[in-house]
Amino acid sequence: MLKGLIFDLDGVLTDSAKFHLAAWNNLAQELGIKLTSAQLDSLRGISRMDSLNLILKYGKQENKYTKTQKEEFAAEKNEKFLEQVETMTPADILPGITELLADAKKAGLKMCIASASKNAPKILSKLGIASQFDQIVNPALLERGKPDPEIYQRAQQLLQLHNDEVISFEDAAAGVAAIKAAHQFAVGIGDKQILKGADYIVKSTKELKLDKIVAVFKRNNK
Ligand code: G6P
Ligand code: MG
Repeated sequence: MLKGLIFDLDGVLTDSAKFHLAAWNNLAQELGIKLTSAQLDSLRGISRMDSLNLILKYGKQENKYTKTQKEEFAAEKNEKFLEQVETMTPADILPGITELLADAKKAGLKMCIASASKNAPKILSKLGIASQFDQIVNPALLERGKPDPEIYQRAQQLLQLHNDEVISFEDAAAGVAAIKAAHQFAVGIGDKQILKGADYIVKSTKELKLDKIVAVFKRNNK
């Protein structure tokens, strides 16, 4: 029986994913690395340091910088990202999300955030929806990033639920892989080809209707 919903944040509740990608693209250019759009998309859902390491690998510069230099690059990217976060308001909640959260609350579902972002609490408070979530996974306490299932398993534990009692939402290929590795029902938001491992896929958050998703969840759980 469905008892809880677990949400990624960037690209699911709000379009902050585009700010992350723009800030990374900016840094990559400064380092003389030209990322393809597929390479840029592969950074979705990936933690800050893992993203930087991936960019350096794409640019064949993986051994070029010291740990301190890399920390400086990551901090520079984060500053750019935070400038954008400052401009965020409740108007930046993606279409369909407010209704989805309200329907979930009405249905008595518990809710948790499973974002790799250390900035998640700040973004949620800018959006004015922090109080709607029962739990937020602290990514600083995790050992492995998405696509490892750890963050989704942790979210499920925080809600005190089993894997077949939750539905998890993601916009990233790495995130869908993490949900499926945690043996949970995955809703993918975005490109069907990229998110093909998900149990239910929509192009945009506008199409997220709780009753429709629950119908497929129930059919799968039979
Ligand atoms: C999310 C985003 C990633 C980001 C990661 C770390 O998973 O989708 O793009 O790199 O969080 O975010 P942070 O705000 O801590 O740098
Ligand atoms: Mg995301």
